Order: sequence, then C-alpha cells, then structure tokens
Amino acid sequence: MSRKNVLSLINTVVSNSCKCPAHSHNYGSVAAATQTGKMEYAFEMSASTVRFGPGVSVELGADLRNWGAKNVCLVTDKNVIKLPSVRVALDSLARNGIAYEVYDETRVEPTDASMWHAATFARSKQFDAFVAIGGGSTIDTAKAANLFCSDREAQFLDYVNRPVGNGKEINVKLKPLIALPTTSGTGSETTGVAIFDYKKLHVKTGISSKYLKPTLAIIDPLHTLTQPERVTAFAGFDVFCHALESFTAIDYRERGPAPADPSLRPPYQGRNPVSDVWARFALDIIRDNFIDAIYQPDNLEARSRMHLASTMAGVGFGNAGVHLCHGLSYPISGNVRNYVPKDYSADHALIPHGLSVVISAPAVFEFTAPACPDRHLEAAKFLGADVSGVKAADAGRALADSVRGFMQRAGIENGLNELGFNKSDVPALVEGVLPQERITKMAPRTQTRDDLAGLFENSMQVY
Ligand SMILES: NC(=O)c1ccc[n+]([C@@H]2O[C@H](COP(=O)([O-])OP(=O)(O)OC[C@H]3O[C@@H](n4cnc5c(N)ncnc54)[C@H](O)[C@@H]3O)[C@@H](O)[C@H]2O)c1
Ligand SMILES: *[C@@H]1O[C@H](CO)[C@@H](O)[C@H](O)[C@H]1NC(C)=O
Ligand SMILES: [Fe+2]
Repeated sequence: MSRKNVLSLINTVVSNSCKCPAHSHNYGSVAAATQTGKMEYAFEMSASTVRFGPGVSVELGADLRNWGAKNVCLVTDKNVIKLPSVRVALDSLARNGIAYEVYDETRVEPTDASMWHAATFARSKQFDAFVAIGGGSTIDTAKAANLFCSDREAQFLDYVNRPVGNGKEINVKLKPLIALPTTSGTGSETTGVAIFDYKKLHVKTGISSKYLKPTLAIIDPLHTLTQPERVTAFAGFDVFCHALESFTAIDYRERGPAPADPSLRPPYQGRNPVSDVWARFALDIIRDNFIDAIYQPDNLEARSRMHLASTMAGVGFGNAGVHLCHGLSYPISGNVRNYVPKDYSADHALIPHGLSVVISAPAVFEFTAPACPDRHLEAAKFLGADVSGVKAADAGRALADSVRGFMQRAGIENGLNELGFNKSDVPALVEGVLPQERITKMAPRTQTRDDLAGLFENSMQVY
C-alpha cells in the first residue's frame, strides 16, 4: 500500500468516527456488526506465566525438556549473545540435551525487513519451540518469527495492526515461546505485542494478539548487571511510562460497547482495578530504585527491583493499554534523522523506544490531567511529590514536574530539539500519530490535530 493510500484510509477512519464524548472510543478492533450495543462491563486479565529469581535462567533447559521440545530456535542479538547470561542459558540447554539453533541478527529497534528476515530463517527450519534472550527488540522479533513459522502462508502485512496492515486475527497454533528479558523496560515478556518500524511510512506499528504472549517469562535479575547506563535509563523510562499511561488511561467501561464475543475483547481494554495494582506497584519501585539502578551497575538490589517492576508494569499495560506518550513516540522514532545514542552499539541512527516515549511525557500529562486530576495527583504522589494542598487544576503541572525531575536526574536530553527535530517537523509528526488510533483512543481526553501539534511543540524543550 502506498503512503498516500494509507493516509487517505486513515483520514476516512478519523473523519467518520463520531466525536461526541460518549462515542468517541467506539471503533477499533470490534466491528460494528459484532457489538452488543451494551457498554463494556467486564475486563479480563491475561499474562504470560512469570517466574522470577536471581539465577533462575538455569531452569530454561528443564522447561523445554518437560514440554518435549526437540529443536529450539534461540533468538537474541549480536551484543547479548556475548553476555555471560546467555552462556548460562545455553549450558542449561546442553545439559538437558535440547538441540537448538541461534538467530542473533535481531535489529535493535526492529523494522518490517528485519522481522521478515527472522521469520524467513524460522520458516526454513523445523522448530518446535522458541526462546528469546534479550531486550524488547529480541522478544518482539521472536514473537514474529514464531507467528510466521506457524503460519507459513502468511504475508507480513496480514497480521499487522490496521490501518497499516490487514489486522487479521490469529487462528493458527503458535509454538511455545520462553522469554528471558535482559533489559528492564518493555515488559514484552508478558505482552501480546510485537513492535516494528514500518520503513516505508516512517511509522512504528505492530502485531497484537493475546496469542503472541510468551508461554513463560523467566525473569532473572542477574541479566541486568551488564545493562549499560543509557540502556538502563531509557528502558527504565519505558517502564515509567507504561505505569503512568496505564494508570491514567480511560476506564475500561468507557471504551465502548462490549463485544458480542469475548474473544473480540481487545488486549488494550482501559484501566481497571487489577491493572491499577500493577501500575501502583511499579511506580513505588521506580521512585525508590530507578536512579540508583541507572548509575550503580553493581547495585543488584536496585536493578532487581526495576527488573520486577518492568514485568509488573508490563502485565498492567498489556491489559489496560498505554496512550499518548506511546502514540507520539512512534513517529518520533520513525522520523529519526541523525541521533545515535550512546551505549547501544548501533550502526544506524535511532531514538531508543524509552527515550522517544518519555520526551513528550511532561506535555502529555499536563494535557490529560483535566480529564482525571485525582489520578494525576496520585501518580505524582507515588513518584514522591508532596501533593498536599495541590489543587485539581494544578494536577497536570504537579505530575509533569515530577516526571521532569526524574528526566533531569537521569540525564535525558532537553526535548525534541536535542533529538534533531524542530518546529517544521510538527506536521509530519502529527500525521504519524494518526495511525496510532488504537492507542491514542485510550487517552482520557480526545485529541484534535491541533492538540497533537501542541503536544509536539511543547516537547521541543522540556526543562
Ligand atoms: N512488545 C511490547 O510490549 C513492547 C513494549 C515496549 C517497547 N517495545 C519495543 O521494544 C524495543 C526496545 O527494547 P529494549 O528497550 O528492551 O531494548 P533493545 O532490545 O533494543 O536493546 C537495547 C540495547 O541494549 C543491549 N542489551 C540488551 N540487554 C543487555 C544487557 N543485559 N547487557 C548489555 N547490553 C544489553 C542490546 O544489545 C541493544 O544494543 C523497541 O522496538 C520497542 O518498540 C515492545
Ligand atoms: C529544521 O530542521 C531542518 C532539517 O534538519 C532544517 O532543514 C531546517 O532549516 C530547520 N529549521 C529551523 C527553523 O531551524
Ligand atoms: Fe513501551
């Protein structure tokens, strides 16, 4: 599909959607014909099985043996393959007599082409299980490889979220996937989402289905001891925003009509009492451990806590959803010019996911606060702000100030200007948000194009 076609399709979708408050969140993965007409009244909590403990990676081989796996595809990247934690996992496979082949060509921040490369590799073999060891880039790539190896006929865009792809439901049975995260960030080990940069359109999008969730997440904090400083900082802000965005997302009962068939309830349902537990838990840990984890690589306590928070926030947002920081992040990273981050050993310009997400966070929460000031104040309080006596009208400012405080201590660049953007980029950035309707509609406040432009303009400088 050409860029022009996609944009005209998006415009049709946007202009046909009802903008009145009661119906503005109505369309999406649930087609009109299958709706009940009754507002949503239920939420569902699903996540991968999670096992957490220092050194627990040694159990990997036994799990695969218990499942009867004979030939495993181990997905990782060129940096992580050299780490001691991978050696431990490989030893465990060897000890349990599990045959495996390594795919280590994962691209940091995957693209459609890099995911297809992994899928083609997987299709050329007969694998009966997948293991992903690495950050979100690796885990997402493994999810895609598993999907396309389980449905050998599928074209890449078949399963990709609309409007970029065809949004096909997954009906094939996937192979078991065990995810071992080595960054404390994405929570991808528990979610049914695989994100990539669609090069042709300069937008990030993804494949999203509960069937993509890893079967088991083995969370071993020892992996985090080798995380470089900037990776720890940027990945940590991904956790931070997963927690803040799921905590301030629309209530699941406001998402729209309940689906006629429970299988059509989307993974991003809106905040709910259970996702709130995960979000509060993660914010609590972030307040006390995030900055130490960044600057003290051998602080196992702080890094372990952040590793757990990453998974917990993943369970929360994986069911509740994220909203504007993530929606705005996709065109930011998709339109990167020449920013090359330290510590990523990347051979191409890239804006790491967590950086692209947090850079708009102060502007976003000032914008969303009027819709649910109490939640914004509570979030600021969890991050350590004294909010006694702060008026509801100042809730956005209070949360934005807390976020800025963490950004400053973590050494985050001063806004989009320092990432290589200026005002003339705003129209293209706004255009790139429109395909992200699946997530931007989870924001507690609807947005016009002018609102989105304002959010980018207000993010050119953060401090
Ligand atoms: N699926 C989801 O639910 C979800 C959610 C958020 C983000 N994402 C996606 O995840 C990707 C980002 O993943 P990420 O932030 O985890 O980073 P990453 O996987 O891109 O890795 C970042 C860098 O750190 C290195 N690295 C990873 N672990 C290391 C370790 N323990 N020691 C030393 N080096 C290590 C990697 O080799 C790489 O250079 C983006 O594409 C983003 O869009 C997915
Ligand atoms: C904005 O950035 C573009 C691309 O780098 C550059 O060509 C242009 O001159 C810049 N505009 C301003 C006002 O700085
Ligand atoms: Fe994220």
